[in-house]
Amino acid sequence: MLKQEINELLTQTGPGTPMGDLFRQYWIPALLAEELPENDCAPVRVKLLSERLIAFRDTDGRYGLVDEFCAHRGASLWFGRNEESGLRCVYHGWKYDVNGQCVEIPSEPEERHSALCAKIKLTSYPLVKIGDLLWTYMGDPANTPDLPEWEFARVPAGQAFTSKRWQECNWLQALEGGIDSSHVSWLHGDGLKNDPLFKGSQGNKYNLADRKPFFEVAESDGGLYIGARRNAEDDSYYWRVTPWVMPCFTMIPPRADHPVHGHFWIPIDDENCWAYSYDYHPTRALTGSELQAMREGKGVHNEYVPGTYRPLQNKDNDYLMDREAQKRGETYSGIRGIAIQDASLQESMGPIVDRTKERLVSTDSGIIMARRKLWRAVEALRDHGTTPPGVDTAHQAVRSAAIVLPKDQAFVEGCGDALRVRPGEKHASV
Ligand code: FES
Ligand SMILES: [Fe+2]
Repeated sequence: MLKQEINELLTQTGPGTPMGDLFRQYWIPALLAEELPENDCAPVRVKLLSERLIAFRDTDGRYGLVDEFCAHRGASLWFGRNEESGLRCVYHGWKYDVNGQCVEIPSEPEERHSALCAKIKLTSYPLVKIGDLLWTYMGDPANTPDLPEWEFARVPAGQAFTSKRWQECNWLQALEGGIDSSHVSWLHGDGLKNDPLFKGSQGNKYNLADRKPFFEVAESDGGLYIGARRNAEDDSYYWRVTPWVMPCFTMIPPRADHPVHGHFWIPIDDENCWAYSYDYHPTRALTGSELQAMREGKGVHNEYVPGTYRPLQNKDNDYLMDREAQKRGETYSGIRGIAIQDASLQESMGPIVDRTKERLVSTDSGIIMARRKLWRAVEALRDHGTTPPGVDTAHQAVRSAAIVLPKDQAFVEGCGDALRVRPGEKHASV
């Protein structure tokens, strides 16, 4: 249970809010690289942390992320012409470069032109391609951190795949779903048996056989390692270890030699977020059949309403729930697909769940500690200007693990280096 004011503190991320300031300390995904596929392509509306922005890629291949609205009289630059190294407002022809600097006011007389342009600059943020994503940093330029080093974004091309979907709820309840390993045996029981990107591991048998996991949570430099322990053999436990790095990165523990997946939950505004879902393999290219399954929406990915990043199964069609399939035992919840099983329940809690009413139990210990850590970091930043965990790229070099350990061994000790990025080596997985 949280007090209402703490719930508000952790869920509000607009400009000037304490949590919004925290998010503005990090490089975060702004959009998929595929959304700006070529020079001078159509600009894209991007709402991030409640700010309305426009992303574009100019004639020279430079990326820009600027205020959506023209400095002249506020027309949306989404209608703009992206040409000759800048974005031109189609209302009266004012033109801006990727830094938001006004470079042309064609209606003004020659002699006043340069002086006037020089004074006009839109809010703008850097936009950098790393892996399949375009990343931005929306904080004080004087404190710009090093570029992100997440392993999934840094592996060679062909070893990773990233998708995104619009999720109609606050970022925190989506994140909380990602670090809540106990729901897997229930909600995703069918996926462990059937999904091509999940099925066929020894770990799945332990996962399905023991539905009362014991949780142990350990601190990491950037966040937490959340260990879920289930019975394995007589003398051993099966541990699934999920890293969470502040504020909103998680990695799901692996299964057999499948690619490893995880998420970033990025606030669009306080009632919507982007779920970025990645899959990667640290030592090999993804196979054709794996890529095909990801594109078809299997694993942590999903199908779309054509031409959008809204899931085909969404709250307006009750996620295409099939109660007959549920009765036949094909799905536990009646909803197809792991990602949408999660989204349906997280959205069902309302845009911002009322955390004053919840009743937390032992399997929620990861969530409790993550909230506490966020809260502490928000206060330390607000009151003392302390850089939060997860900004330092060394904090980003984490891995998940799925491992069988003797009963008397603690998971952090038993996993050892397996919880860190080890170039050239695979994840520890059963
Ligand atoms: S509103 Fe954009 S040029 Fe006038
Ligand atoms: Fe889930």
